Amino acid sequence: MSSKANLEHLWMPFSANRGFKAEPRLMNEAKGMYFFKPDGTQVLDGTAGLWCCNAGHGNDKIVKAIQDQAAKLDFAPSFQMGHPLGFEAAEKLLSIAPSDAFQYVFFTNSGSEAVDTALKIALGYQQHRGKVDKTILVGRERAYHGVGFGGISVGGLPLNKKHFSLLSNVDHICATHDLGKNAFSKGQPDFGEELADDLLRVINKHGADKIAAFITEPLAGSTGVLIPPKGYLERIREICTEHDILLIFDEVITGFGRLGTSFAADYFGVEPDMITCAKGLTSGTVPMGAVMVKQEIYSAFQDRDPKAIDLFHGYTYSAHPMAAAALIATLDVYREDGLFEHANERSSYWENALHSLKGTDPIIDIRNLGLVAGIEMEAKEGKPGTRGYDVFTNAFHNHDLLLRITGDTIALSPPLIAEKEHIDQIVDILRKIIPNH
Ligand SMILES: Cc1ncc(COP(=O)(O)O)c(C=O)c1O
Repeated sequence: MSSKANLEHLWMPFSANRGFKAEPRLMNEAKGMYFFKPDGTQVLDGTAGLWCCNAGHGNDKIVKAIQDQAAKLDFAPSFQMGHPLGFEAAEKLLSIAPSDAFQYVFFTNSGSEAVDTALKIALGYQQHRGKVDKTILVGRERAYHGVGFGGISVGGLPLNKKHFSLLSNVDHICATHDLGKNAFSKGQPDFGEELADDLLRVINKHGADKIAAFITEPLAGSTGVLIPPKGYLERIREICTEHDILLIFDEVITGFGRLGTSFAADYFGVEPDMITCAKGLTSGTVPMGAVMVKQEIYSAFQDRDPKAIDLFHGYTYSAHPMAAAALIATLDVYREDGLFEHANERSSYWENALHSLKGTDPIIDIRNLGLVAGIEMEAKEGKPGTRGYDVFTNAFHNHDLLLRITGDTIALSPPLIAEKEHIDQIVDILRKIIPNH
């Protein structure tokens, strides 16, 4: 990869293609907490790749499982057919579900597909149980639920919707971010439980008998790490139960130890009716997503001829053998290496280290939970996002640190194997470079 011309033909996702191609940022290898640039320079991974490599990079056990599976069974058709590992993977995932109420798994290839699958299941479920008017899907402003048409419709990021037609039966409640009241909160902010009642506004507007489901990220990641206020998710659960609305937690980022527990549902003690997940499901090694559903949801689709297809939905690569092998090995590694507990133990060190940046100009908020943090910087006048972009590129090119940026917020989510020295290194670099931008 020596010539810049070689980079031209890949249209990169969510990227400033021309900017990248003028000054590329390439990774060539990875191990543990580090990526390696093509020239061999080590880059500290402050973001678990893209919120996904929770077990760290190149874990020997996961790599071997994928290699062995590729040699044994490369593919098996997924419609009306199966292979043993797919079923084992479903059982394995359910073994760490928040409760026994979750009994079924639908596999996809990504978080976006998991979200669109969950939305379809929600709509189908309401039809099957005779609630035929329950056709509205509710999301939240600023939410990110991937890039399928369902996901962008219930999502709340305007640029992601800009040129596209959306689903029509959709509404949104307000976001929870409140810098005036909650800036520099450690862990869950104190203020904002009552914002959950915005769901009541939407219910009053349409009628509960029209609403199929509410979907939310328990902790919003991609929009810039928004931590739910104390009591907020509990109140959301109450409202959904009271009004017979399915609650979907989109745990694509929060699943698999990010908060020191299997799922955010466990961390917050709030149980949804469906959970979407991906990313850490295979520690980012093989593309895979999943929807976990409760017994009664699956059962609602099973009341017809056993020879008839129960859900007209699926992917060629649902439960792909390599992904299934990766899932099983990844969950074993999480358990055997105690990585969720490790993340939990590290979280207070992480919190204190990050909050030591308070007072660094132009930081206007630091927020954290588990092994996630958001550092919001004041936007430059008339140039939102440029400060974030400059910090990100400076960190990579000059300090060999991988960050993630949304607008002017730095989003951090290191692999769960991060030790104190890695955390110190991330914070030291940020302390050095943020004031210069
Ligand atoms: C909460 C959430 N849902 C869905 C997605 C989409 O996942 P994918 O990029 O695998 O389609 C993401 C990706 O970051 C996410 O954070």
